[in-house]
Amino acid sequence: MELAGRSVVVTGASAGIGRALTLRLAGRGARVVAAARSSAALDALAREAGPAVHAVPVDVTRDDSVAALGASARRACGKIDVVVNNAGVGWVEPFASSSVAHWEETLATNLLGALRVTRAFLPLLREGGGLVVNVGSAAASGWPYVALYAASKAALRAASLAIDRELRASGVRVLCVDIGPTTGTGFGSRSDAAHVAEAVQAWTALDVGPARELATAEISAQRIVDAIETALGDV
Ligand SMILES: NC(=O)c1ccc[n+]([C@@H]2O[C@H](COP(=O)([O-])OP(=O)(O)OC[C@H]3O[C@@H](n4cnc5c(N)ncnc54)[C@H](OP(=O)(O)O)[C@@H]3O)[C@@H](O)[C@H]2O)c1
Repeated sequence: MELAGRSVVVTGASAGIGRALTLRLAGRGARVVAAARSSAALDALAREAGPAVHAVPVDVTRDDSVAALGASARRACGKIDVVVNNAGVGWVEPFASSSVAHWEETLATNLLGALRVTRAFLPLLREGGGLVVNVGSAAASGWPYVALYAASKAALRAASLAIDRELRASGVRVLCVDIGPTTGTGFGSRSDAAHVAEAVQAWTALDVGPARELATAEISAQRIVDAIETALGDV
């Protein structure tokens, strides 16, 4: 299914997988509304990608900011075909000493932020079918040292299925695409290096994590593109 001429909103577009995804979608002829908090990084991305990319600052944890993103996307594109909830944060830390502030930011961004953006865009998506792709994680199966992150992504997966079943009759589809460990991103970069080393050991013992598989941001972005193309054939 052609991405050319489609309008796609990508959150978390300022870095990592979201940045690679934005460039890939624009390269396929899609119009991309690229959203994140860092305006400077978004502006640099828009300059690199050209006029197909429309940069809009957003904080997905705030209602007013998400409403402004919806209004800006409508002005730029009219109807929206696809929303990719890619914005995410995570800390690698032992549960026993983990920060409650980190728990709250993880759930507020990865779970509630994705749901807030999804609901805000439903009116625009309903105008012509439409697709929501939530970026999940292999860690949702219960990787140690990322308990709250794993919980946020497992909950996102469950919510995606529930909302998909609720909205399918209206023509809107909601998917969750689980991504594996990916290098060249900011994920976990605010974590203590000693905790990351302990976590990698624990993951390797479970035969999960970067010792088992490690993608580039471009490869993970392509997995999301593949999921979008497959699903657009169905909606
Ligand atoms: N890297 C991995 O190994 C891996 C594996 C599986 C799944 N994932 C998932 O892939 C997605 C992308 O992560 P990444 O690895 O590419 O990490 P990243 O390089 O740190 O990118 C995260 C993006 O989310 C944005 N963001 C964070 N909080 C936000 C907020 N409140 N509002 C709006 N945007 C926000 C960041 O931009 P600003 O700071 O400018 O807002 C940034 O653009 C996440 O959902 C992550 O959980 C990553």
